[in-house]
Amino acid sequence: MKIDVCLSPHEVSEEKLKDHIVVVVDVLRASTTICAALAAGAKEIIPAESIEEAIRLASNLSRDAILLCGEREGKLIEGFNLANSPLEYKPKIVKGKTLIFGSTNGTPTIVKTRLATRTLLAGFVNLPTIVGALAEVKIPIIILCSGKLGQFALEDAVCAGNIVHALRQSAGINYELTDGAGAALLLYRHFQDSILQMIKESDHGRYLASIGMQHDLPVCAEINRIPVLPVYHDGKIRVQKDKPGR
Ligand code: MLT
Repeated sequence: MKIDVCLSPHEVSEEKLKDHIVVVVDVLRASTTICAALAAGAKEIIPAESIEEAIRLASNLSRDAILLCGEREGKLIEGFNLANSPLEYKPKIVKGKTLIFGSTNGTPTIVKTRLATRTLLAGFVNLPTIVGALAEVKIPIIILCSGKLGQFALEDAVCAGNIVHALRQSAGINYELTDGAGAALLLYRHFQDSILQMIKESDHGRYLASIGMQHDLPVCAEINRIPVLPVYHDGKIRVQKDKPGR
């Protein structure tokens, strides 16, 4: 079975994602925050391609039932309820709510997968859960790194490589790796004992520290901290408890 890793969302067209299980990775921080929100009891998350789209989606829904969430340059957007720190998403704030979520790289990448058979959202925080779900999958897998403004992001590539590594260890399936998957695997092997340090030294890790968000980095680096399976389907992200597809 084939596994591909796209190191930037621009490497692949929407059409090419059809008939695949896609795993979107945005370690810093959209995937991690989405896991935190769902684990804290958010009902569902609607990813938006842009801030304008987030505001438009919110205007069609009852304001009491929703929270407007997301970031620009890693910071709270004026008029929004929450930004993009996983530590903000506490049960007393998000439980039972629909979140409209617009981030710079993560949510446009998620929306780009709308033609996929199913999309799973992954970070280090839910990596074993993702690997457990993928081990059951019988159709080709594409791991799509959100990157940073269309460019390569080290932390997403290392996380993708960790998924490839763990799948090869656990599933007893002979996976065929593309060059992208092989490169991600090599990066993971290089950084496997220093994930937090790698994140701290990455471009976006350093940027987040420079705007005072350094406390998010250990959260995003902690493997299995939030063992949920977020699935994007029909425009919404929800926790899935059964198998993601064959
Ligand atoms: C994104 O989607 O670009 C990120 O999650 C940015 C951030 O760290 O807030």
